[in-house]
Amino acid sequence: MDGPPPPFVASAHRVKLATQAWEVAGAAALRRQVFCVEQGLFDGDDRDAIDAQAIPIVALAELCGMPDAVVGTVRIHQPEPGLWIGSRLAVAEEHRRVGSLGASLIRLAVSTATARGCHCFQAHVQSRNALLFRRLRWTTLEEVELHGRPHHRMQADLSHYPPWPDGAQGFLTLTRRAA
Ligand SMILES: CC(C)(COP(=O)(O)OP(=O)(O)OC[C@H]1O[C@@H](n2cnc3c(N)ncnc32)[C@H](O)[C@@H]1OP(=O)(O)O)[C@@H](O)C(=O)NCCC(=O)NCCS
Repeated sequence: MDGPPPPFVASAHRVKLATQAWEVAGAAALRRQVFCVEQGLFDGDDRDAIDAQAIPIVALAELCGMPDAVVGTVRIHQPEPGLWIGSRLAVAEEHRRVGSLGASLIRLAVSTATARGCHCFQAHVQSRNALLFRRLRWTTLEEVELHGRPHHRMQADLSHYPPWPDGAQGFLTLTRRAA
């Protein structure tokens, strides 16, 4: 076989609320890597005022059954009673399209909100990812420009997202392609 072997990809990931300091720090580092370095949307740091009230969610690669690294993240917040917003969805490049991490993060984000009384869940989705969300039962409300890039303001069909009250435990996802 030519070329270097593919990077190691854990066979299982846990998607959960970020409850440990290293999980919160790992989520911040992944966001900087994806939104500042890879996409160039922000200069140096992508943190904003929403982080003070948002609940961070992480996907952790597991090694020998132990959580090892933050490889995915999203955050949710409630700007007004019943209305929840998801933002800063990111999966580490080498973990994309291997373990449904993006879809699993979206699932826990919305299901955590529904467990907390959400009656409307929305997000500004980069247009190139709108199809991913449509497949997860989201619909486009309008198309807008944000950070100089085209976005869809989308809303989740909550009947597809039953409440998940135990976000601190989260759930395990299995990888399609493992090392
Ligand atoms: C968008 C992102 C989070 C998706 O994460 P991911 O872990 O690759 O997504 P998943 O593996 O859960 O994808 C679920 C399904 O949607 C598909 N999919 C993934 N990204 C897609 C896209 N942009 N458009 C259409 N389908 C997509 C996957 O192939 C998979 O399909 P399958 O189950 O038939 O194989 C990831 O690509 C990412 O971090 N991108 C950079 C950051 C970014 O753009 N964030 C803003 C999101 S609005």
